[in-house]
Formats: sequence, structure tokens, C-alpha cells
Amino acid sequence: MKKMWSGRFAQDASKLLEQFNASIMFDRKLYREDIEGSVAHAQMLAHQGILSQAELTSIEKGMAQVLEEIESGVFEWKIADEDLHMAIEKRLTEIIGEAGKKLHTARSRNDQVALDFRRYVLRKNGEIVEQIKEVMGVLVDIARNHTSTLLPGMTHLQHAQPINFAFHLLAYVSMFKRDCERFESSVERNNISPIGCAALAGTPHNINREMTAQSLGFHSVSINCLDTVSDRDFALEILFNISTLMMHVSRLAEEIILWSSYEFRFVELSDEYSTGSSIMPQKKNPDVPELLRGKTGRVYGNLMGLLTVMKGLPLAYNKDTQEDKEGVFDSVETIEISLEILREALRTMTVKPDNMARACKLGHLSATDLADYLVEHCGVPFREAHHITGRAVARAEQLGCDLSDIPYAELYAIDARIKEDVCGYLSIEHSMNARTSAGGTAEVRTLEQIMFFDEYLRAKGYNSLPDV
Ligand code: ARG
Repeated sequence: MKKMWSGRFAQDASKLLEQFNASIMFDRKLYREDIEGSVAHAQMLAHQGILSQAELTSIEKGMAQVLEEIESGVFEWKIADEDLHMAIEKRLTEIIGEAGKKLHTARSRNDQVALDFRRYVLRKNGEIVEQIKEVMGVLVDIARNHTSTLLPGMTHLQHAQPINFAFHLLAYVSMFKRDCERFESSVERNNISPIGCAALAGTPHNINREMTAQSLGFHSVSINCLDTVSDRDFALEILFNISTLMMHVSRLAEEIILWSSYEFRFVELSDEYSTGSSIMPQKKNPDVPELLRGKTGRVYGNLMGLLTVMKGLPLAYNKDTQEDKEGVFDSVETIEISLEILREALRTMTVKPDNMARACKLGHLSATDLADYLVEHCGVPFREAHHITGRAVARAEQLGCDLSDIPYAELYAIDARIKEDVCGYLSIEHSMNARTSAGGTAEVRTLEQIMFFDEYLRAKGYNSLPDV
């Protein structure tokens, strides 16, 4: 079979080269973008008088048939065709004849692949944002029921201060909001049409790049063709944005794994989203969050892979760039299924407020409140208050009770400035609700945060999912 580019070649390509050089096994995923791009290009060529109306009509009809053949599975994808661009153009020409040979006027595979891949990435940015909003919506819904569910807030994975469970979940909602913004801003920045840059330097044909840009939904035309045909920043951005998103998913997954262990028992994953052991009959394993955590590694790898491919490339297009696609496809597919299963695992998860409350009675979570009390009500400088509280904690340890349950007489014995009303300040619930500063955990502040995210999701057109 003669290659489209074989004019200057005396010998056929080796089979080995064909196999090594081809991208058709994976870039065929871009068939829709490729066909739409070709039709827009042909329409522009006809508008500019470069193609006749009859030629355009036959290209449009031919492409409709190619699309139909691909979608019904009869299209033959052959390694010998090298990539989807040539496979589709070849089939078009088989169907419509001469007019098919004119389609590639004022275009190169360099701007063609830049167009197809960019459009795929822009579309996926939008789809991922939709999925993130669903996860946010599910977290906000769980949060709504748990604004007074006490939970030990931790630093260094040690009990620190009491918070409520909703507040904890809303921390993840905050992360996911930033993720949405990152994907959206990447779309803003990269919504620029590469088509018409041709191989690297533009074209002498009287083309109209604004027209193709507009019909393909771009907001403008790229400024410099040399940059455009080799620019893969849009691909790096989605890889980075997926990596950061996956890092957030992984942190939440890690907490779910901890929380579902016997040591915590704060939550229980549903049977539907848990797995068993082949040897230990009693086990219920959190494979879902473990895989979410594990898959973060491959997503990071794809980002490092493409950064490395790009780092030494002279301008403009180089075949190295063909290595841009598989990592992006893999990261996109990984995040799509990850967000879907995270959403469902969360939706079907049981929260165990009693166990959380019990854990709040370990570790003297209200110690800071005693120090704050000494500062506020007894005029003690904070450093001294810290020291006095340390002695109270040591005494509670001796007595085998939590600081929130220590008898008043014990505190009085440590420092006579402490009044009886102190006990009200040391309860776990009071401690949580005392943190009323902006963005704090107090129930009133948590409710404001829920309202804020409700409003954010509503403004973004999010509709709650139907109940499970
Ligand atoms: N399959 C190629 C890729 O994915 C398409 C562009 C090829 N261009 C070229 N001049 N060889 O990058």
C-alpha cells in the first residue's frame, strides 16, 4: 500500500517502522473532533472560493458516511494508515473521489492534530467539572445532616480540637471548588483555534481562520503559527489539574480508609462498594478508596511523562509530540471512573456519629478552651495559661478522665483563679461551637459554609442527584 507521503520514496516502509510510527491504535479516539474539524475546514475553503460548492457538498456527505462507518464499527482501522487523520482522509477519497484529495489544501497534520487534541481536551475539562460538582453536591448533602456531629479535629494525626463532621467534609468541598476553577480557567486560556496554521508557517492560500475558529466554538485564533503547532500546554494543564484533583481525592480516600478501620469506626462503606478477602471470611476491605489512592500514582506519572517529552523540543512540530495522547487519555479515563465511584461510595456510606463522639472524649480536645478561659476570664497571659492547662491535662491523665470531665475541685486546686463556670467551657460541644471566627467550625459558621457552597453549585447549574 502506497503511503500518502510516499512521493519521494523509492522503497516501501518496513513493517517494523509502520508499527513503531503509528498512532492509529490510540488516536482513533479523536475521530469526532477530526471529522468535525475537516468539515469546518472544507466549509471555510468553499466560502473563500478555494473549493467549489459541489466539492464541499460531496466532502460533507462523504464525511457523514465515514462517521457512520466508524460509529457502527465497520470502519477498518489499519496500522498501515499510520494515524486517524490519514485513515479518515483516505476513506473519504475512496468514497467521494477527486474532491477528497482537495480537503488537505491549506492544512497540515500538524495543525490538524493540534486542533483535534485540543478540542478533545477542552471538552474533557468541561465534563470533569460536571463530575466534580456531583461529588461536591454529595458531600454538601452529607454535611447538611452533620453540622452538630462532633468529631476530633486532628493535626499530626493527633487529637487537636473538636470540630463537626460537616466542617471536615466541607474542607474537601473547598478543595474541589478550586479544582473546578482550575479546569475552567484552563478552558478560558486554551480556547484558541490552531487550524489554519498549516505545517508551521501559515499558508499562502486566502483562508479565513476566524471562520473555522467560530464554527468550531473557539473564542479566538492563535497568534503565532510556529508556537501553535507545537504547543501542548493545554495537555500539560489537564494533566496537572487531574493530578491535583486526584491528590485531593486520594487524601479523602486515605481518611475513609482510616475511618473505616476498627480503630476509628467513624464510617462504614456499603457492601456494594466494599470487597472481601479470599482467605479471611470476616473481612470487609476498603478497596475502592485504596484504588483511588493508588491510581493517583499513574496520574502523576502521566504528567511527568509529558513534561519530559516536551522539555527538549526545538520548534516546531516534532514526532515526539505524538507521545502526548496516551497519557492524557489514561489520566482522563482514570479521573472519570474515579470521580464516579467516589461519588457512589460516599452516597452509600454510613456515618457513625456515636463513635465520633466517643473519640472526642479522648485526648483532651478542649485543652485550648481552658487556656482561652484563663486568658479571657482570669486575665492570665496566654503563655502562663498554656502552662496551667498543661498541669490540668496531666492531672486528668492521672485521674484517667478526659479534661472535659475533670471535677471542678481539681482545677481549683491547680489555680484558684479558675471559677466554677469553667465546666461549661470545657464541654466538647461548647468547644466546637466557640470557634465562631470567619471560616471556623462553630455550627453557625458551618451552616454558612453549606449555604455558600449550595449557592456556588446552584449558580453553576448543578441539580441534586436522584436519591440512591
Ligand atoms: N500522528 C501524529 C501525531 O499524533 C499526527 C501529526 C503528524 N505530523 C507529521 N508531520 N508527521 O502527532
